[in-house]
Amino acid sequence: PVSGLPQPFYKSSRFPSPLSPHFSLSNQLISLSATMKVLAILYDGGKAAEEEPRLLGTVENELGIREFVESHGHEYIVTSDKEGPDSAFHKHIVDAEVLITTPFHPGYLTADLIKQAKNLKICITAGVGSDHVDLDTAVTHKIQVLEVSGSNVVSVAEHVVMSILLLVRNFVPAHEMIERGDWQVSQVARAAFDLEGKVVGTIGAGRIGYRVLQRLLPFDCKELLYYDYAALPAEASKAVRARRVEDLKEFVSQCDVVTVNCPLHDGTRGLVNTELLKHFKKGAWLVNTARGAICDKDAVAAAVSSGQLAGYAGDVWNVQPAPRDHVWRTMKNPLGGGNGMVPHYSGTTLDAQARYANGVKSILENYLKAHPQEPQNVIVGHGGYATKAYGQR
Ligand code: NAI
Repeated sequence: PVSGLPQPFYKSSRFPSPLSPHFSLSNQLISLSATMKVLAILYDGGKAAEEEPRLLGTVENELGIREFVESHGHEYIVTSDKEGPDSAFHKHIVDAEVLITTPFHPGYLTADLIKQAKNLKICITAGVGSDHVDLDTAVTHKIQVLEVSGSNVVSVAEHVVMSILLLVRNFVPAHEMIERGDWQVSQVARAAFDLEGKVVGTIGAGRIGYRVLQRLLPFDCKELLYYDYAALPAEASKAVRARRVEDLKEFVSQCDVVTVNCPLHDGTRGLVNTELLKHFKKGAWLVNTARGAICDKDAVAAAVSSGQLAGYAGDVWNVQPAPRDHVWRTMKNPLGGGNGMVPHYSGTTLDAQARYANGVKSILENYLKAHPQEPQNVIVGHGGYATKAYGQR
């Protein structure tokens, strides 16, 4: 397991062992006897990756596993070229046995691509969040999907707390004012508040959502709330003094700050839309580091520009890389602030990259040796979905 991770209550039945065999005889024969193609879709690191070898999640540094893969006699293809039928991704997926892709530059493995991928046995997410794979089709095609659970959950939780603070305290416009050479305190103070005394709620109280609640405790918020179809164990909710609200509209109507920390699946795509935004408190702040498509792009932009939301921050986008003219890059509230958007990097700090690169290697090692996988890493196993986090079924 990744070091320092799961808290005791996460070892409970919330993350049950899939109990299905993690390898089959046919897998063993294929993996142990034949040369296989391992295909990795990673982002271009350019000069930064040449100068900084700890940028392991890049095309240049290849998760640090080339020698490992090749020493076992396998082929390792690494590319960032992932869009369209002529891309390296679409070309190599037809005979790859292992696909590694990172959520930071996702190779979107659609149902159509899965049908073309005749040799594909296992998809490994270098990070957390496997929504770039059509999971239902992976189930029907008996393709395993694994991620390095827990590898970057602290990295994201820290980013969430930072984003909440920068919105509530109106940090970005204040810094921009300083860079411009201006100094007009009232102009930024008119939209700056304390986090103390506010109600903060998380949609999703799993590994990240729970760590956000833990980190918010010392800020003396008025209340911490969560909305999740899986209730926290009593001991865990007591430890962070969080109250569960079971109706989503009621939940958002009580929050000054909402943070989104659930996976993207059919039940969460477009969850925060025009209708739900009407139920937010006027002038609430929204932080989404989970997946861009959980929030409706145009509904959020409209809510920020009308002031229904005082601000929106996060690092995830409905399409990645985000187009240059994506409205979330430049949207502003009526006072000219309220935008805390950055590229998708909260879960790819250098600390996180070391953890998910190691995790990918150990998943691959288990696969090659036909050893069972760590249960918490299995999203889709041989017996179907092995996690309860990707929707209720
Ligand atoms: P987790 O599996 O530990 O927790 C997810 C929680 O969301 C579970 O408690 C689940 O019951 C809940 N959930 C699922 N559907 C829900 C719904 N419809 N409404 C409310 N709650 C729901 O996952 P973890 O590690 O906390 O990660 C959550 C997500 O964060 C990932 O799936 C990924 O999309 C995103 N993420 C983003 C990163 C970044 O760099 N921005 C890095 C890592 C993860």
